[in-house]
Amino acid sequence: MTTTIAEIRSDTASVEDRIATLLGEMTLAEKVGQMNQAHAGDMDPVEVLSDALRAGRIGSIINQVDVATVNELQRIAVEESRLGIPLLVGRDVIHGFKTVMPIPLGQAATWNPEVVRQGARIAALEAAKSGINWTFAPMIDITRDPRWGRIAESPGEDPYLASRLAVAMVEGFQGDDLAATGTIAACAKHFAGYGEAESGRDYATTNIPENELRNVHLRPFRAAVNAGVATLMASFSDLNGVPATGNEFLMRQVLRDEWGFDGFVVSDWNSIHQLAVHGLTADDRDSVLAASTAGVDMDMAGGVYEGHLADLVEDGALDIEVIDAAVANILRTKFRLGLFDNPYTDPEALPANGSPEALATAKAAALQSVVMLKNDKGVLPLSKQDLDRVAVIGPLADAPYEQLGTWIFDGDTELSVTALQGIRELVGGDVEIEYVRAMETSRSKSTQPFDEAVAAAAKSDAALLFLGEESILSGEAHSRADINLPGAQAELVRRVRETGKPVIAVIMAGRPLTLANIVEKVDAILFAWHPGTMGGSAIAELLFGLESPSGKLPATFPRMVGQIPIYHSQKNTGKPPTPEKVVHIDDIDAKAPQTSLGMTAFHLDAGYAPLFPFGFGLSYADFDYDNIRVSGSEVPVGGVVTVSAELTNRGDVAADEVAQLYVRDLVGNVTRPVRELKGFRRVRVEPGETLTVSFDLHTDDLAFYGRDNTLMVEPGEFHAWIGGSSDAPLRTEFSVVAGD
Ligand code: NOJ
Repeated sequence: MTTTIAEIRSDTASVEDRIATLLGEMTLAEKVGQMNQAHAGDMDPVEVLSDALRAGRIGSIINQVDVATVNELQRIAVEESRLGIPLLVGRDVIHGFKTVMPIPLGQAATWNPEVVRQGARIAALEAAKSGINWTFAPMIDITRDPRWGRIAESPGEDPYLASRLAVAMVEGFQGDDLAATGTIAACAKHFAGYGEAESGRDYATTNIPENELRNVHLRPFRAAVNAGVATLMASFSDLNGVPATGNEFLMRQVLRDEWGFDGFVVSDWNSIHQLAVHGLTADDRDSVLAASTAGVDMDMAGGVYEGHLADLVEDGALDIEVIDAAVANILRTKFRLGLFDNPYTDPEALPANGSPEALATAKAAALQSVVMLKNDKGVLPLSKQDLDRVAVIGPLADAPYEQLGTWIFDGDTELSVTALQGIRELVGGDVEIEYVRAMETSRSKSTQPFDEAVAAAAKSDAALLFLGEESILSGEAHSRADINLPGAQAELVRRVRETGKPVIAVIMAGRPLTLANIVEKVDAILFAWHPGTMGGSAIAELLFGLESPSGKLPATFPRMVGQIPIYHSQKNTGKPPTPEKVVHIDDIDAKAPQTSLGMTAFHLDAGYAPLFPFGFGLSYADFDYDNIRVSGSEVPVGGVVTVSAELTNRGDVAADEVAQLYVRDLVGNVTRPVRELKGFRRVRVEPGETLTVSFDLHTDDLAFYGRDNTLMVEPGEFHAWIGGSSDAPLRTEFSVVAGD
């Protein structure tokens, strides 16, 4: 049954009928228009875009955040174009809009899908108030390289954690109903493999065997698609010789044929044009043919679809069916968003930005994201009763903008509570606080202001050093080859250490840093990532023990940069190292020359262990895991095995713990990682309380892509560990056996 144009705005016909009717009415130019995302740069958008909107030559706009302007652009599209097709309004709302949540890597450190979902919901509400109906998030690139600046935007190194958080973010942005007020379309990006950029240099080449791609990098995308993500973005990067934007294997075979995705794929900014820069194609026309054939439905800000698609069809080089399918995918998304029925934004229908709920969510996320890496002799928590005076030192103690991190185009620094403010508010009435910035930026090399910092520390009962990276040092195109604390920060630590006062480092950064050169010189470390709007309140409450740190590392912290890539789910190798086999370069006996130093997989100068493993994070409580067991020693394929352990809080404060389940498949059709995360749960444990944490593992959860790159569950032996990090020693076993 076909539908008349008059029915397009009604709900009397099915979406597919409405799409078919529209497609039947559209000229080739109007179809190409839907595939074109435009931007106005720094110019007046109404002036720059109106004619093209009236002519139906634009399907989406990017980077407009003034609601009146957005409504006017929508009005022109809906009321003054021939077919009245509404616009998608896209924006990078990555970890909050006005109210900023911790950077995504920090959110991953919460290991709390619920708080992540809430954060995305708040972001959607605030963004929707400005007329935005499409965000370019979640970014779910797996990365094992902290040099890469975009690790800040990522969920870290693990595909299971990333998948759980991908689902949470999609649910948060999109809600149950994309057409509801305050929900926006999500975009899973960057499809795919971007996080393997060679040497962590942004946009660099990636070479990922199909088996690794499927077992690791594609998993979060699959989870996002299963959760109903509306759109995907193709990656800038070259994947195995075919840049993702022209990669038919990714976008047709995997995404459409295997996964059945029926939303649309957008290119990255100008990435269709860049296919020729990569050297895949000769020119823009060629690139447009490659990208559209491969399955990129919309051209982000490149103008090349607009320039060449129609010609390609008219010349017979491109089948009109490719265009029709792309336009149908885009229109389907617009229908799902309810834009045909309700294209305009009424900002009054949405809560105020920075609402109490938004700030409470940002604070909860920040509180749970901070990872305590060290706490010698229980120097933390601080107690205001025991302190007369503290020195607050460092370039990130009072930096309302820097604490927000990367991708905060719209973040409101007025809402930021800095650590200095947070500490003053919490204990300023009881404790004297002396603040010395000591460094103009995190990169400053001058040590001249250090005397003042040292003097302040010397007069105080404790020195709180706020170190790390300012926000510009991470994010897109902000990679680093040296991931030590930048500038003269290590020297600042050394100088303050000499005072003999307790030194507590609070580190805000967009990536794991190499901390080996300072870890012994401080008594405690709170790693706070870029904690967002409410970071300062959260940090103050953690420092003074109103709440216990409970974040866990979503990425391994190397000792030194040369260990990268280092991650918990590595393969075993044929010569795995053990502590006894590691020889340090300084211990090689010059007088007794040897030809071999153990012949295992380690570095002579770094060993093989990280400084801090994946999943690690200390607490003010004292958690103990015991009595691990399985529901049965054998589980048939298709069955469920329950793995559980007892978790006791032997400390004297209540705290959250993130209990983690790891599994090893001992023999595989392809070799399997030494440990794989298969479950986690954040639980509150009272002092003296013992809880049973249990995880149901379906044998499907043990499936992997085998040698022929199909998903398989293999009978065989498995080890399982439960504990508080990827180093958890408490182990049990079970076997998967052939089903009936
Ligand atoms: C380029 C980035 O790679 C992508 O993540 C972002 O969404 C677009 N630019 C739009 O700003």
